[in-house]
Amino acid sequence: MREFTSMGMAIDNGKLKILDQTLLPHEKKWLSCENVDALIEMIQRLAIRGAPAIGISSSLLLAILAEHGHSREQLIKDGVRLKESRPTAVNLMNNIDRVLKKVSENDYPSSVIREAESIYLEDVGLCKKMSRLGANIIKKNESILTHCNTGGLATAGIGTAMGVIRTAHEDGKNITVFVDETRPLLQGGRLTSWECGELGISHVVICDSSAAMLMKAGKVDRVFVGSDRIATNGDFANKIGTYSLAVLAHYHDVPFYVVAPRTTIDPECFSGKDIPIEERDASEVLGITGGLCSYTWAPEKSPAYNPAFDVTPAELVTGWVLDTGVFTFNDLQHANWWMC
Ligand code: MRU
Repeated sequence: MREFTSMGMAIDNGKLKILDQTLLPHEKKWLSCENVDALIEMIQRLAIRGAPAIGISSSLLLAILAEHGHSREQLIKDGVRLKESRPTAVNLMNNIDRVLKKVSENDYPSSVIREAESIYLEDVGLCKKMSRLGANIIKKNESILTHCNTGGLATAGIGTAMGVIRTAHEDGKNITVFVDETRPLLQGGRLTSWECGELGISHVVICDSSAAMLMKAGKVDRVFVGSDRIATNGDFANKIGTYSLAVLAHYHDVPFYVVAPRTTIDPECFSGKDIPIEERDASEVLGITGGLCSYTWAPEKSPAYNPAFDVTPAELVTGWVLDTGVFTFNDLQHANWWMC
């Protein structure tokens, strides 16, 4: 296997390494991931997270296992188990399917290794393309609001929505970023703020509930978010809280963009109703679990509802920024619009 290093994952001495995102920004601990059980555990507790990153790390692990002598049958079983680790991000299923398709080729395991390497490298290129297209939309001195973490930790490259922000910053547009803390697991407050700091991007962390008053005060020029799965009618799933942001943006006339590679569009989902939404443990809402501390502030017996994602309807989206172009609601009327 080739060696790779991104912000949150690496292939180092033939081993998959994961930067434990539950400990960031306070501790940078790289974990060695040697088997499928270990990766499933890391994906489920969000040590590695973000739609592209979970798909890419799964493909890389399958390639390492193939290189180390896993039989074709064993690799298929491993792939099927990894696909079940989280339900919403279509990248996970797509990337694993791509790798498993190569299992039947004569030059296995080389065929699988090559595919996993191209998945990684392709993502780096896709991030650059989307980020350039999205950054071109941003004007000088604008304030951008974003949700969750969509940057280098969530992808192999510079990110999706965060890639747009980073590119606009590198273009010298003097932007300021409002970083939604992103309850309940604080991917914005912990990770996006950290990435902004590392990149020297001016940013302000806000409670998710502050977005409304900032928009009312005219302080938000645009919203950019990522996505875990986009239906063919343009509805899309992203981190819980994205839908409420879209409603707020619509009410306050703030342009709202979703940024994702075209492979995030699932041709089998015709609308948001077809997107499976992950429900996570109540403890994440009742207190803070895992990571550097654990504390329950609610009565332990209180029931809680904890969907990890929500669906934003297409009519609230100003633009779909894909690697193939920026699409508007009108463009969605064409068949296979994302390929046009
Ligand atoms: O639960 P997470 O942290 O994996 O959720 C991540 C998101 O919702 C991101 O916005 C999405 O994966 C797009 S990232 C490029």
